[in-house]
Amino acid sequence: MQLNSLNSKYQDNQTSYGYISVINHWLIAALVILMLILGLSLEFADLGSLKRNVLSLHKSLGALVLIFGAWRVLWRLFNGFPSHNFAIKPWQKGAAKFTHILLLLSIIIMPFSGYIMTEAAGRPVNVFMLFSLPPIPDSRSLKEAAQLVHTLCAYTLCGLLLAHVMGALVHQFKDKLPMLQRMLGKTN
Ligand code: HEM
Ligand code: HEM
Repeated sequence: MQLNSLNSKYQDNQTSYGYISVINHWLIAALVILMLILGLSLEFADLGSLKRNVLSLHKSLGALVLIFGAWRVLWRLFNGFPSHNFAIKPWQKGAAKFTHILLLLSIIIMPFSGYIMTEAAGRPVNVFMLFSLPPIPDSRSLKEAAQLVHTLCAYTLCGLLLAHVMGALVHQFKDKLPMLQRMLGKTN
């Protein structure tokens, strides 16, 4: 197989996503959705003695989102967004792009604010008992600011995600456009 055709499968081109973007998208999507479920259950469910373990899993997985998410966002930044020629209205295209940019921002802001609010409260972030994130000095005001950001962004993210998934499903099943195949690296 030619090296060029191998590269073209993994890298994005002007109108389609390559396998690197596909893996980045679905891995982070699964992690972010799981993180929202864990976070919301910490907030609203009566977890009893499980709470400590759920919080510790939330922090460890969140640290992985921070590390892998940084790579995912940089990859998109350097590669840009592939365009498409689907017959959708310009405002829908614009709204989708705006949502994508906010989703990319949330991939960084959510775990970063979680890290800052935890460390500024004097609690270490230990990742699956393997390594710890760098400590920062304790600060009550920083902790409170980061906590506010974490909570506000979490609820904004829930709304964005709902719009993103509904948009993808409406285009796929109502407008009969191959959006999901596009994010599986299968079509332009
Ligand atoms: C079940 C959940 C999800 C579905 C069905 C889904 C579906 C899709 C589809 C079909 C596209 C391609 C749209 C296009 O290029 O026109 C896309 C792109 C995108 N999605 Fe999702 N998505 C999901 C979850 C998420 C989550 C949780 C995030 C981030 C927190 C996310 C962030 C993005 C971003 C930033 C793009 C733009 C391209 C990229 O950088 O990967 N998605 N999604
Ligand atoms: C994608 C990443 C993340 C998402 C989507 C997420 C989501 C959430 C949500 C929805 C909540 C409940 C609402 C709230 O109280 O703010 C929450 C709470 C919390 N998160 Fe995160 N989070 C993420 C990353 C992190 C990280 C990396 C840490 C720490 C290292 C962290 C620490 C916490 C803590 C300490 C709470 C409060 C739990 C309690 O009620 O005591 N989060 N998170």
